[in-house]
Amino acid sequence: MARLLITGGAGFIGSHTCVVLLEAGHNLLVLDNFSNSSPVALERLKSILNLNDRDSASRLQVFQGDVRDIDLLEKIFEKSELQSSPIEAVIHFAGLKAVEESVHDPLGYWDVNVSGSRTLLEVMDKHDCKTLVFSSSATLYGYPDIVPIPESAPINPINPYGASKAAVEMMLADVAGCLKDRGIKQASTTGWRIARLRYFNPVGAHPSGCIGEDPNGVPNNLFPYVSQVAIGRRGTLQVFGSDWPTSDGTGIRDYIHVMDLAEGHKCALDALVGSGPQLLTLNLGSGVGSSVLEVIRAFETASGREVPYKIVERRPGDAAITVADPTLAYKCLGWRTRRGLNEICRDGWAWQFANPNGYKGEVA
Ligand code: WQD
Repeated sequence: MARLLITGGAGFIGSHTCVVLLEAGHNLLVLDNFSNSSPVALERLKSILNLNDRDSASRLQVFQGDVRDIDLLEKIFEKSELQSSPIEAVIHFAGLKAVEESVHDPLGYWDVNVSGSRTLLEVMDKHDCKTLVFSSSATLYGYPDIVPIPESAPINPINPYGASKAAVEMMLADVAGCLKDRGIKQASTTGWRIARLRYFNPVGAHPSGCIGEDPNGVPNNLFPYVSQVAIGRRGTLQVFGSDWPTSDGTGIRDYIHVMDLAEGHKCALDALVGSGPQLLTLNLGSGVGSSVLEVIRAFETASGREVPYKIVERRPGDAAITVADPTLAYKCLGWRTRRGLNEICRDGWAWQFANPNGYKGEVA
């Protein structure tokens, strides 16, 4: 089993991926600045995995800090080398991810997402750690020309968040010595093993209800907002438009259970470690579209709670339909989603019901 560095490992997708990696026997070093996450999530991992203090001291080491801090990154890599257990691979989640926020703070997004990734790559290269799984996003496709969206679709980000993800993808292609616009699986001429995973809409929670999505402030995204209405933290959901060219007039998205997404990261890591230097680019989605009204109904069924909503104007920057073509992830990794909207709502509600205020108020 390997020693892995997980940047942003306390976050929504990072914490769920840590569960899967720990269950697979890996030893993790987590770097997180807790700007949009909580150390409580990492404590909860110990209970999910039944890790005692002695086990977690060696299997789940936590470093509080920022991925842009080169001295801290150096210290983490050097400490592992001194322990004769060098870091073999990195899964890079740390970054900012709110579309609307990125419009108001483009330089902040380019600093954290792009400069932070560059700093990480520099330190990895210096320590001869050349295996990386990168948290990319379907947001870089912008308005899709064709749906379902294949990996070969044009990269056309329409906000600074998507642009920052596209920029890191280009940086990774250069580091791998690959032409930027060729295929989903390219041989690397520099010895790097890189997977660029383009998430669609990550939602849901670990079935234990111990960890889940806990956005700061008012949720921008549909699923956490619906969940907070159901638990009574929010009054009425605003549905952004009912005049879209879709079955019921509301926006359609590809919602992927966060546990499916976490398992996809493990499969991608296994594929990189098990084969030669390469640049792999894959959509991680279900291939199934669900409308806003379908999500509301499914969540009401799972929770037994009403989710009152009001139809309002379309949100600027929204597309009508965004759904993945997930066939290449299955071809390359043997991975596909195994959970649908009902499991998403069941597990998302279990988390919200057990944690009405998320991790707030808990002390790590
Ligand atoms: C989904 C649908 C809205 C909120 C996000 C971001 C980014 C990315 C995942 C990682 C749309 C509608 C939403 C609300 C609503 N993550 N909606 N009322 O727009 O696909 O964008 O995708 O990269 O977080 O790019 O997700 O959840 O914001 O919206 O009616 O209060 O729900 O119009 O149709 P989206 P979303």
